[in-house]
Amino acid sequence: MVLRRHTPGDGPALVAAINESLEHLAAWMAWAQAPATEASIGEFLAGATRDWDEGRDFAFAVCERPARPGGPVIGGCGLHRRGGPDVIEIGYWVHARYTLRGIARALAVALRDLAFAMGIPRVEIRCDERNVASASVARSAGFTLVGTLLGEPDAAGLPGRTAMIFSAERPPG
Ligand SMILES: CC(C)(COP(=O)(O)OP(=O)(O)OC[C@H]1O[C@@H](n2cnc3c(N)ncnc32)[C@H](O)[C@@H]1OP(=O)(O)O)[C@@H](O)C(=O)NCCC(=O)NCCS
Repeated sequence: MVLRRHTPGDGPALVAAINESLEHLAAWMAWAQAPATEASIGEFLAGATRDWDEGRDFAFAVCERPARPGGPVIGGCGLHRRGGPDVIEIGYWVHARYTLRGIARALAVALRDLAFAMGIPRVEIRCDERNVASASVARSAGFTLVGTLLGEPDAAGLPGRTAMIFSAERPPG
């Protein structure tokens, strides 16, 4: 597989990949609660381009080799700055037809090493405590569970979802 920066021509391939995987994504991804459209993905791609250019957030298309602009997309992932300068978070999703082939594990390892090469000392993966698949990816990629984050109670006073925080530290030297 290849991880590459999104191009504006990725719209149709992303819409197709997300909508073919919608049921599988909707359980865990806030942005997958409704089918993707050219408009919603166009907005995502514009934001992703801006964030990358400003060095804030780095979203990648996951493609089969050989990757070509506008070609099929089999997943998405990214490095997201949600904490201070010393930590970055990895996010990922894989097309429903391509799961259980080691793709998420491989991309988590690649993005972790990229973050370390960028000089960021700590990389996190956060996932809902019920997301067994994502927690398995984090463990399989060598991340360690370092804590849990209790969700805010909802409007009815019921406890929110608990997130597991997995971490990897850049080795010394
Ligand atoms: C989570 C997700 C990315 C996993 O992708 P994947 O490419 O199938 O994962 P991999 O094949 O790399 O599997 C890595 C490890 O996780 C395990 N795993 C993957 N899916 C699993 C599942 N549903 N149940 C149990 N274990 C699972 C694999 O067996 C493997 O373990 P191993 O290395 O010990 O053999 C994919 O299921 C997905 O896109 N889910 C919806 C979106 C999502 O939840 N994203 C993460 C949000 S935090």
